[in-house]
Amino acid sequence: MITTEKKRIAIERTSHSRLPQTDFGHLAFGSTFSDHVLIADYSKGKWGEARIVPYGNLELSPGTSALHYGQSIFEGMKAFRDVNDAINLFRAEDHRNRMNKSARRLCMPEVPAEIFIDGMHEFLRLEAPWVPAGEEGSLYLRPLLFATDSFLGIRPSENYRFIIMACPVSAYYPEPLRVWVTNSYVRAVDGGVGYVKAAGNYAPSMIANKYARENGYNVVLWLDAINRKYVEEYSTMNAFFVIDEFVVTPKLTGTILEGITRDSLLTLFEDMGVPTFEREISINEIFEMHDKGKLREAFGTGTAAVVAPVQTITYEDRTLELNPDGFKLMPAAKKKLADIRRGLEPDVYGWLTQILPE
Ligand code: COI
Repeated sequence: MITTEKKRIAIERTSHSRLPQTDFGHLAFGSTFSDHVLIADYSKGKWGEARIVPYGNLELSPGTSALHYGQSIFEGMKAFRDVNDAINLFRAEDHRNRMNKSARRLCMPEVPAEIFIDGMHEFLRLEAPWVPAGEEGSLYLRPLLFATDSFLGIRPSENYRFIIMACPVSAYYPEPLRVWVTNSYVRAVDGGVGYVKAAGNYAPSMIANKYARENGYNVVLWLDAINRKYVEEYSTMNAFFVIDEFVVTPKLTGTILEGITRDSLLTLFEDMGVPTFEREISINEIFEMHDKGKLREAFGTGTAAVVAPVQTITYEDRTLELNPDGFKLMPAAKKKLADIRRGLEPDVYGWLTQILPE
């Protein structure tokens, strides 16, 4: 566990906090924003000073290139209120590394630690009252980087804006998942941007998710683009299966998001003595294993969703059904992760940064 030091970042405080009107008992994901945002601009080849200002609308030119060509990336990360009321930020440096990987892929400037990490600490110190208490609650942090050149030619922008905003949240998927496997749409191709958090990964996925929701499912399971055979990931999560006594997850091929929750679960399972395999898994194998009684659990992992159990998987004209109440490995790993984040188990992996109060 690391603790933070106070850094000097200019802060303009809101005079109208929305905290008193916020109903922490009913938090729909991503619709309640905290009082402030952190902003830093990049121009003429360098980053300007970060500043924290009241949450509010942005003024943008209609020619803003991110809006036209999608030169825009983001992160999703979380802070937790632990049982002693301390605020713990989870794997911040790993999120910065992933954001910078996304930045390199989309020809954008990397975000330095003084802005991403020190800025995040200062931002969280100010927004600490927005971090919900309880097992399911967290403050979802959304770092965003987008191109701000007002220019309609196709080339990397010369100007960028970095923003950190925050939303208090509870469970993303309150119910076990009903999964629809699509083989009509694909999410990512080799050589593309599937492994990074590019804004453009999400809009093309909406049509499949819309179809799923309209037909009684809550998430899509994507297959690989070439063979339409191998499992890649769920709508907002990496995919995990328990086959016999083993945990299996698709290996990272460049088309799958390099999930930080995925990585955390693999670490926890290994330490629990559960063998884990990162390999290709075909959708036919999933159904075959189910038919043989060997598919014991299926679940998704992601920052927003944390760990979400799967109840049904529908592929073409077949549906398999699992019993999440009988899952063993998933709930054990989920509890371990929650306990570490909430200070009930020691942070032996150095995943947390404790944010000291103002
Ligand atoms: C996350 O889990 O942080 C995501 O980015 C998924 C989704 C909310 C876009």
